[in-house]
Amino acid sequence: MSSERAGTGRGKLLLFGEHAAVYGHPACGLSLDSTMRVRIREIVPSRWRLPELDDGNRGMLGAFLESAEPLFPKELFRPGEISVESTIPVGMGFGSSAAWCAAFARAILGGSTDREMVWEKAHRAEEFFHGTPSGIDTGLAILNGLYAFTPSPPRLPGARPLEGFPMHFVVGAVPREGSTRTLVGDLRRRIESKDPEAKRLVEELGALSRSAIEILATGDSARIGEIGKLADEAQTLLDRLGLSTAALDTMIGIGRKNGALGGKLSGAGGGGAFYLLFEDLAGADRAYRAIADAVRNRIDRGETVLFRYSR
Ligand code: MEV
Repeated sequence: MSSERAGTGRGKLLLFGEHAAVYGHPACGLSLDSTMRVRIREIVPSRWRLPELDDGNRGMLGAFLESAEPLFPKELFRPGEISVESTIPVGMGFGSSAAWCAAFARAILGGSTDREMVWEKAHRAEEFFHGTPSGIDTGLAILNGLYAFTPSPPRLPGARPLEGFPMHFVVGAVPREGSTRTLVGDLRRRIESKDPEAKRLVEELGALSRSAIEILATGDSARIGEIGKLADEAQTLLDRLGLSTAALDTMIGIGRKNGALGGKLSGAGGGGAFYLLFEDLAGADRAYRAIADAVRNRIDRGETVLFRYSR
Protein backbone atom coordinates (compact mmCIF):
# COMPACT_ATOMS: atom_id res chain seq x y z
CA MET A 1 0.00 0.00 0.00
CA SER A 2 1.36 3.46 -0.76
CA SER A 3 0.30 6.83 0.55
CA GLU A 4 0.88 10.10 -1.20
CA ARG A 5 1.24 13.66 0.06
CA ALA A 6 1.29 16.73 -2.16
CA GLY A 7 1.78 20.48 -1.96
CA THR A 8 1.92 23.46 -4.30
CA GLY A 9 3.74 26.78 -4.43
CA ARG A 10 3.24 29.74 -6.73
CA GLY A 11 5.63 31.61 -8.98
CA LYS A 12 6.21 35.27 -8.21
CA LEU A 13 6.88 38.62 -9.80
CA LEU A 14 8.72 41.05 -7.55
CA LEU A 15 7.63 44.59 -8.39
CA PHE A 16 9.96 46.52 -6.06
CA GLY A 17 12.48 45.97 -3.30
CA GLU A 18 14.58 43.00 -4.46
CA HIS A 19 18.01 42.97 -2.76
CA ALA A 20 16.93 45.90 -0.55
CA ALA A 21 14.62 43.41 1.24
CA VAL A 22 17.66 41.38 2.34
CA TYR A 23 18.66 44.47 4.41
CA GLY A 24 15.23 44.98 5.98
CA HIS A 25 13.77 47.42 3.42
CA PRO A 26 10.16 46.91 2.29
CA ALA A 27 9.34 45.06 -0.92
CA CYS A 28 6.23 44.29 -2.91
CA GLY A 29 5.26 41.74 -5.48
CA LEU A 30 2.62 39.54 -7.02
CA SER A 31 2.00 35.81 -6.90
CA LEU A 32 1.70 34.51 -10.46
CA ASP A 33 -0.82 31.95 -11.70
CA SER A 34 1.99 29.52 -12.49
CA THR A 35 2.54 26.84 -9.87
CA MET A 36 4.84 24.02 -8.86
CA ARG A 37 3.32 20.85 -7.45
CA VAL A 38 5.43 18.38 -5.48
CA ARG A 39 4.16 14.87 -4.76
CA ILE A 40 5.80 12.45 -2.34
CA ARG A 41 4.71 8.84 -2.72
CA GLU A 42 5.82 6.57 0.08
CA ILE A 43 7.59 3.44 -1.14
CA VAL A 44 8.92 0.22 0.36
CA PRO A 45 11.68 0.03 1.40
CA SER A 46 11.35 3.61 2.62
CA ARG A 47 13.85 5.94 0.89
CA TRP A 48 14.05 9.10 -1.22
CA ARG A 49 13.78 8.55 -4.96
CA LEU A 50 13.95 11.30 -7.58
CA PRO A 51 13.45 9.33 -10.80
CA GLU A 52 12.55 12.28 -13.02
CA LEU A 53 15.77 14.20 -12.47
CA ASP A 54 19.12 14.17 -14.24
CA ASP A 55 22.22 13.38 -12.15
CA GLY A 56 23.09 17.04 -11.47
CA ASN A 57 19.66 17.99 -10.15
CA ARG A 58 19.35 14.70 -8.28
CA GLY A 59 22.61 15.47 -6.45
CA MET A 60 21.45 18.99 -5.63
CA LEU A 61 18.04 17.89 -4.35
CA GLY A 62 19.65 15.02 -2.44
CA ALA A 63 21.73 17.62 -0.59
CA PHE A 64 18.58 19.73 -0.10
CA LEU A 65 16.75 16.78 1.48
CA GLU A 66 19.62 16.24 3.92
CA SER A 67 19.62 19.89 4.92
CA ALA A 68 15.80 20.02 5.20
CA GLU A 69 15.45 17.00 7.50
CA PRO A 70 16.18 18.83 10.79
CA LEU A 71 13.54 21.47 9.93
CA PHE A 72 10.59 19.09 10.20
CA PRO A 73 9.22 16.85 12.95
CA LYS A 74 10.82 13.41 12.56
CA GLU A 75 7.48 11.59 12.20
CA LEU A 76 6.48 13.84 9.25
CA PHE A 77 9.77 13.75 7.36
CA ARG A 78 8.95 10.40 5.75
CA PRO A 79 10.92 9.68 2.56
CA GLY A 80 9.32 8.67 -0.72
CA GLU A 81 9.42 9.04 -4.46
CA ILE A 82 9.25 12.68 -5.46
CA SER A 83 7.59 13.91 -8.63
CA VAL A 84 7.29 17.52 -9.67
CA GLU A 85 4.94 19.27 -12.08
CA SER A 86 5.70 22.90 -12.79
CA THR A 87 4.42 25.69 -14.99
CA ILE A 88 7.00 28.07 -13.49
CA PRO A 89 10.02 28.67 -15.72
CA VAL A 90 12.88 27.22 -13.64
CA GLY A 91 15.89 29.30 -12.59
CA MET A 92 14.73 32.45 -14.39
CA GLY A 93 13.73 34.74 -11.51
CA PHE A 94 10.08 33.70 -11.16
CA GLY A 95 10.67 32.09 -7.78
CA SER A 96 10.91 28.43 -8.79
CA SER A 97 13.16 27.56 -5.84
CA ALA A 98 10.84 29.35 -3.37
CA ALA A 99 7.86 27.57 -4.97
CA TRP A 100 9.71 24.26 -4.59
CA CYS A 101 10.38 25.01 -0.90
CA ALA A 102 6.72 25.98 -0.34
CA ALA A 103 5.38 22.94 -2.20
CA PHE A 104 7.80 20.57 -0.46
CA ALA A 105 7.01 22.00 2.99
CA ARG A 106 3.27 21.71 2.33
CA ALA A 107 3.68 18.12 1.13
CA ILE A 108 5.77 17.11 4.15
CA LEU A 109 3.29 18.81 6.48
CA GLY A 110 0.52 16.74 4.87
CA GLY A 111 -1.09 19.63 2.94
CA SER A 112 -1.14 21.86 6.05
CA THR A 113 -3.25 25.01 5.76
CA ASP A 114 -1.33 26.74 8.55
CA ARG A 115 0.24 29.44 6.35
CA GLU A 116 2.64 30.78 8.96
CA MET A 117 3.98 27.31 9.70
CA VAL A 118 4.37 26.42 6.01
CA TRP A 119 6.04 29.79 5.35
CA GLU A 120 8.44 29.37 8.29
CA LYS A 121 9.51 25.90 7.06
CA ALA A 122 9.75 27.02 3.41
CA HIS A 123 11.78 30.06 4.44
CA ARG A 124 14.27 27.94 6.38
CA ALA A 125 14.42 25.46 3.51
CA GLU A 126 15.17 28.28 1.05
CA GLU A 127 18.36 29.06 2.97
CA PHE A 128 19.78 25.96 1.28
CA PHE A 129 19.39 27.63 -2.13
CA HIS A 130 19.98 31.30 -1.32
CA GLY A 131 21.96 31.51 1.91
CA THR A 132 20.21 34.56 3.38
CA PRO A 133 16.74 34.87 1.85
CA SER A 134 14.57 37.75 3.02
CA GLY A 135 11.45 35.54 2.91
CA ILE A 136 9.62 37.57 0.27
CA ASP A 137 9.89 34.87 -2.42
CA THR A 138 8.53 32.12 -0.19
CA GLY A 139 5.85 34.57 1.00
CA LEU A 140 4.62 35.07 -2.56
CA ALA A 141 4.86 31.31 -3.19
CA ILE A 142 2.46 30.70 -0.28
CA LEU A 143 0.20 33.75 -0.32
CA ASN A 144 -1.89 34.71 -3.31
CA GLY A 145 -2.15 38.27 -4.58
CA LEU A 146 -0.39 41.63 -4.39
CA TYR A 147 1.54 41.98 -1.13
CA ALA A 148 3.81 44.42 0.66
CA PHE A 149 6.50 42.86 2.83
CA THR A 150 8.37 44.28 5.77
CA PRO A 151 11.40 42.05 6.19
CA SER A 152 13.06 41.55 9.57
CA PRO A 153 15.87 39.10 8.76
CA PRO A 154 16.49 36.42 9.87
CA ARG A 155 12.81 36.20 10.94
CA LEU A 156 9.87 36.00 8.52
CA PRO A 157 8.81 39.30 7.00
CA GLY A 158 5.47 40.90 7.83
CA ALA A 159 3.05 40.61 4.89
CA ARG A 160 0.19 42.99 4.08
CA PRO A 161 -2.18 42.62 1.12
CA LEU A 162 -2.29 45.75 -1.06
CA GLU A 163 -5.42 47.02 -2.74
CA GLY A 164 -3.54 48.05 -5.90
CA PHE A 165 -5.34 48.69 -9.17
CA PRO A 166 -5.57 47.07 -12.60
CA MET A 167 -2.07 46.66 -14.00
CA HIS A 168 -1.14 45.13 -17.33
CA PHE A 169 2.32 43.70 -17.76
CA VAL A 170 4.54 42.20 -20.37
CA VAL A 171 6.68 39.82 -18.36
CA GLY A 172 9.71 37.95 -19.59
CA ALA A 173 13.04 36.44 -18.77
CA VAL A 174 16.44 36.27 -20.44
CA PRO A 175 19.32 33.86 -19.65
CA ARG A 176 20.89 34.25 -16.21
CA GLU A 177 24.55 35.13 -15.87
CA GLY A 178 24.62 34.56 -12.11
CA SER A 179 22.66 32.67 -9.48
CA THR A 180 20.60 34.37 -6.75
CA ARG A 181 23.01 33.01 -4.14
CA THR A 182 26.05 34.53 -5.90
CA LEU A 183 24.38 37.85 -6.65
CA VAL A 184 23.05 38.28 -3.09
CA GLY A 185 26.43 37.12 -1.67
CA ASP A 186 28.44 39.53 -3.86
CA LEU A 187 26.29 42.47 -2.82
CA ARG A 188 26.53 41.46 0.84
CA ARG A 189 30.35 41.41 0.60
CA ARG A 190 30.30 44.93 -0.92
CA ILE A 191 28.02 46.20 1.84
CA GLU A 192 30.00 44.50 4.60
CA SER A 193 33.25 45.91 3.22
CA LYS A 194 31.60 49.34 3.67
CA ASP A 195 31.28 50.13 -0.05
CA PRO A 196 29.41 53.46 0.37
CA GLU A 197 27.99 53.43 -3.19
CA ALA A 198 26.44 49.95 -2.78
CA LYS A 199 24.96 50.89 0.60
CA ARG A 200 23.47 54.12 -0.78
CA LEU A 201 21.99 52.41 -3.84
CA VAL A 202 20.36 49.72 -1.68
CA GLU A 203 18.87 52.41 0.57
CA GLU A 204 17.53 54.28 -2.47
CA LEU A 205 15.99 51.05 -3.77
CA GLY A 206 14.30 50.65 -0.39
CA ALA A 207 12.95 54.22 -0.58
CA LEU A 208 11.55 53.65 -4.10
CA SER A 209 9.89 50.48 -2.91
CA ARG A 210 8.36 52.31 0.06
CA SER A 211 6.93 54.96 -2.33
CA ALA A 212 5.51 52.29 -4.67
CA ILE A 213 3.83 50.52 -1.73
CA GLU A 214 2.27 53.80 -0.59
CA ILE A 215 0.84 54.39 -4.07
CA LEU A 216 -0.40 50.81 -4.49
CA ALA A 217 -2.06 50.96 -1.07
CA THR A 218 -4.20 53.95 -2.17
CA GLY A 219 -5.92 51.86 -4.87
CA ASP A 220 -5.92 55.01 -7.03
CA SER A 221 -5.50 53.82 -10.63
CA ALA A 222 -4.78 57.40 -11.81
CA ARG A 223 -1.36 56.94 -10.15
CA ILE A 224 -0.24 54.04 -12.35
CA GLY A 225 2.16 56.33 -14.27
CA GLU A 226 4.00 57.01 -11.00
CA ILE A 227 4.53 53.27 -10.57
CA GLY A 228 6.02 53.14 -14.07
CA LYS A 229 8.42 55.99 -13.23
CA LEU A 230 9.46 54.33 -9.98
CA ALA A 231 10.14 51.11 -11.91
CA ASP A 232 12.42 53.02 -14.32
CA GLU A 233 14.25 54.64 -11.41
CA ALA A 234 14.67 51.30 -9.66
CA GLN A 235 16.04 49.78 -12.88
CA THR A 236 18.67 52.55 -13.08
CA LEU A 237 19.79 51.82 -9.51
CA LEU A 238 19.83 48.03 -10.07
CA ASP A 239 21.90 48.62 -13.19
CA ARG A 240 24.35 50.77 -11.21
CA LEU A 241 24.68 47.90 -8.76
CA GLY A 242 25.74 45.74 -11.70
CA LEU A 243 22.60 43.58 -11.52
CA SER A 244 21.25 44.25 -15.01
CA THR A 245 22.64 42.73 -18.20
CA ALA A 246 22.77 43.75 -21.87
CA ALA A 247 19.95 41.31 -22.67
CA LEU A 248 17.74 42.77 -19.91
CA ASP A 249 18.50 46.33 -21.05
CA THR A 250 17.54 45.37 -24.61
CA MET A 251 14.19 43.89 -23.58
CA ILE A 252 13.31 46.78 -21.29
CA GLY A 253 14.42 49.26 -23.99
CA ILE A 254 12.16 47.66 -26.62
CA GLY A 255 9.28 47.75 -24.15
CA ARG A 256 9.76 51.43 -23.41
CA LYS A 257 9.86 52.23 -27.15
CA ASN A 258 6.56 50.37 -27.42
CA GLY A 259 4.65 52.41 -24.89
CA ALA A 260 5.58 50.92 -21.50
CA LEU A 261 5.03 53.28 -18.56
CA GLY A 262 8.23 51.82 -17.13
CA GLY A 263 9.98 48.57 -16.51
CA LYS A 264 12.67 46.85 -14.55
CA LEU A 265 14.29 43.55 -13.78
CA SER A 266 12.45 41.46 -11.21
CA GLY A 267 14.23 39.24 -8.70
CA ALA A 268 17.95 38.86 -8.17
CA GLY A 269 18.97 40.05 -11.66
CA GLY A 270 22.10 39.04 -13.56
CA GLY A 271 19.62 38.30 -16.37
CA GLY A 272 16.42 36.52 -15.46
CA ALA A 273 12.99 38.05 -15.09
CA PHE A 274 11.79 41.54 -15.97
CA TYR A 275 8.48 43.34 -16.32
CA LEU A 276 7.09 46.22 -18.32
CA LEU A 277 4.01 48.05 -17.09
CA PHE A 278 1.19 49.31 -19.33
CA GLU A 279 -1.82 51.47 -18.72
CA ASP A 280 -4.27 49.22 -20.57
CA LEU A 281 -4.61 45.75 -21.96
CA ALA A 282 -4.53 46.88 -25.61
CA GLY A 283 -1.21 48.68 -25.06
CA ALA A 284 0.28 45.64 -23.35
CA ASP A 285 -0.93 43.37 -26.16
CA ARG A 286 0.58 45.62 -28.85
CA ALA A 287 3.90 45.81 -27.04
CA TYR A 288 3.87 42.06 -26.41
CA ARG A 289 3.56 41.42 -30.16
CA ALA A 290 6.29 43.97 -31.02
CA ILE A 291 8.70 42.52 -28.43
CA ALA A 292 7.91 38.93 -29.45
CA ASP A 293 8.60 39.84 -33.12
CA ALA A 294 11.89 41.53 -32.19
CA VAL A 295 13.21 38.53 -30.23
CA ARG A 296 11.39 35.70 -32.08
CA ASN A 297 14.61 33.71 -32.65
CA ARG A 298 15.53 33.81 -28.99
CA ILE A 299 12.02 32.72 -27.99
CA ASP A 300 12.11 29.86 -30.51
CA ARG A 301 15.50 28.73 -29.16
CA GLY A 302 14.02 28.74 -25.63
CA GLU A 303 16.48 31.43 -24.49
CA THR A 304 13.82 34.04 -23.80
CA VAL A 305 10.46 33.71 -22.09
CA LEU A 306 7.71 36.25 -22.79
CA PHE A 307 4.10 36.42 -21.61
CA ARG A 308 1.36 38.86 -20.76
CA TYR A 309 0.03 39.22 -17.24
CA SER A 310 -2.79 41.33 -15.85
CA ARG A 311 -4.15 41.80 -12.37
C1 MEV B 1 15.25 37.26 -5.18
O1 MEV B 1 14.06 36.91 -5.88
C2 MEV B 1 14.99 38.43 -4.28
C3 MEV B 1 16.18 38.90 -3.48
O2 MEV B 1 15.82 40.10 -2.83
C4 MEV B 1 16.61 37.87 -2.46
C5 MEV B 1 15.65 37.79 -1.28
O3 MEV B 1 14.90 38.74 -1.01
O4 MEV B 1 15.70 36.76 -0.61
C6 MEV B 1 17.38 39.19 -4.38
